Amino acid sequence: MSFYEQVFENNKAWVEEKLNLDPEYFHKMAEGQSPEILYIGCSDSRVTAEKMTGIKPGEMFVHRNIANLVPNNDLSSASVIEYAVDHLEVKHIVVCGHYYCGGVKAAMEAQDLGLLNPWLRNIRDVYRTHNNELNAISDETERYKRLVELNVQEQCINVVKMACIQKSYLTKGSPIIHGWVFDIYSGKVIDLQIDFAAVLKDIQGIYDLGTQR
Ligand code: CO
Repeated sequence: MSFYEQVFENNKAWVEEKLNLDPEYFHKMAEGQSPEILYIGCSDSRVTAEKMTGIKPGEMFVHRNIANLVPNNDLSSASVIEYAVDHLEVKHIVVCGHYYCGGVKAAMEAQDLGLLNPWLRNIRDVYRTHNNELNAISDETERYKRLVELNVQEQCINVVKMACIQKSYLTKGSPIIHGWVFDIYSGKVIDLQIDFAAVLKDIQGIYDLGTQR
């Protein structure tokens, strides 16, 4: 059996396993979802959002792209965020990066990657914003890891720039934004402990959309 065919065998086994535990499992799932968390992570096949957090179907809304970006003009991530906040009313939004991210690595190298250039430029912009801090790190691996963290931080800030976030946070106190990094070598999820209220206060003067007025 090919690797591809195996997928359907796996699916059959999974359906059986779930129905054995609860014959109504899929009927209940079909009734709807009420996820408390929106997870924005990298497409990297090793960073499995649900598996590494033990979160079950229906509990986490997920968006993944190369290097977990939330670019200002990206309709895809913006739509996911707005839907999650306005309709699903998620309580938390997580931006999760990971060490040894290929997208971050590519953005650190001088190479022409065609269509990927404008996408990865978002990471180069993060590098430029934190140029002094990053260039002061002499060890290349450490600098690479720090850029992964700073990229998460900047994407969290991009989330905060959105009107739906400001409106919901200022009226309901949620969602709370969190920055995580998945450490591929240990399997651990690290909370970067970004002080969301401080970030919001810090950038409010520039990005205030007057959602309370
Ligand atoms: Co990655």
